[in-house]
Amino acid sequence: MRAVWLREFGGPEVLVAGDAPDPVAGPGQVVVEVAFAGITFVETQFRATGNGPFTGEPPFILGNGVGGVVAAVGAGVDEGLVGRRVISSTGGSGGYAERAAVDAAGLFEVPGGLALDDALALLADGRTAMMLVKAAEPAAGERVLVEAAAGGVGSLLVQLARAAGAEVVAAAGGTRKVELARELGAQEVVDYLEPGWADAVGRVDVVFDGVGGPIGRAAFELLGEGGRMLSFGLASGEWAGVSEEAAAARGVALRQPKVTPQEIRDRTESALAEAAAGRLRPVIGQRFPLERAADAHAAIQSRATVGKTLLEVTR
Ligand SMILES: NC(=O)c1ccc[n+]([C@@H]2O[C@H](COP(=O)([O-])OP(=O)(O)OC[C@H]3O[C@@H](n4cnc5c(N)ncnc54)[C@H](OP(=O)(O)O)[C@@H]3O)[C@@H](O)[C@H]2O)c1
Repeated sequence: MRAVWLREFGGPEVLVAGDAPDPVAGPGQVVVEVAFAGITFVETQFRATGNGPFTGEPPFILGNGVGGVVAAVGAGVDEGLVGRRVISSTGGSGGYAERAAVDAAGLFEVPGGLALDDALALLADGRTAMMLVKAAEPAAGERVLVEAAAGGVGSLLVQLARAAGAEVVAAAGGTRKVELARELGAQEVVDYLEPGWADAVGRVDVVFDGVGGPIGRAAFELLGEGGRMLSFGLASGEWAGVSEEAAAARGVALRQPKVTPQEIRDRTESALAEAAAGRLRPVIGQRFPLERAADAHAAIQSRATVGKTLLEVTR
């Protein structure tokens, strides 16, 4: 099969298309005939340094999310799954490929009426956004600041916080991105590439901080008594690094979602159901052919993307 190998840790050019052995479904597994492979921001960081939530020694096939059709099942797996439209995580490797072997227990069947690419766009980002909003508990009328608001997770946070009745302040880099966030429902937008952006925002009740660094720290300063800060990423290369003491001094709670296997499954299913019902819109901003995974990574890490970036496998 065709696949994209990560030859060594480094720049986007270390992602090289080539041949790979066809995966075989082991006991409890299925082989998915991949139509779309997802890319998350953290995969670009892992590719660059080898650090992150994944493990693997090059050369290996990168990619943590696939969408496609079940082509074969292993021992102990219901044969009725063959032909079903599914999305699945891979455990961190094997996704940028024509076929992937994944655990049957980790599959999500795509609801009728939801496109496969839309479902895959929600796989990681949807559950992440759902868990974050649940942990933040935004009340109707509260002001909620979303960083990287046009990104994969951010574009969903904007919609979910708005649906919860919050006043959403979308913060992002550049006019195109803030306008997208406005289209998605944000009542206020701010371009944080502009100096003094935080002063223009004023007091907020919740901060969703996926950027960290100076932007995350400036956002924290906007919180007051009763505020909640959820730091879930370091797209800037650095965590916001707000200490418990600094938060307590302002009366701010540093919150993290409860991440259990059951919670991950439930929140993924909720995201898929919301999208199938037309209440949540995954934004697929870019599509690249599988062979151009390196170009996709270059676009993501240079902040040139909006929403989700997918690799398309054409046969
Ligand atoms: N996807 C998931 O399921 C998941 C799960 C857990 C945690 N996270 C974390 O959530 C954050 C968002 O993830 P995502 O996959 O949805 O990515 P994304 O938001 O689609 O892309 C990252 C965004 O971060 C912003 N950014 C700010 N400073 C940057 C810099 N120096 N270099 C590159 N980008 C910068 C950019 O938006 P602007 O140009 O608007 O600043 C960029 O588009 C990341 O920190 C990620 O690690 C994601």
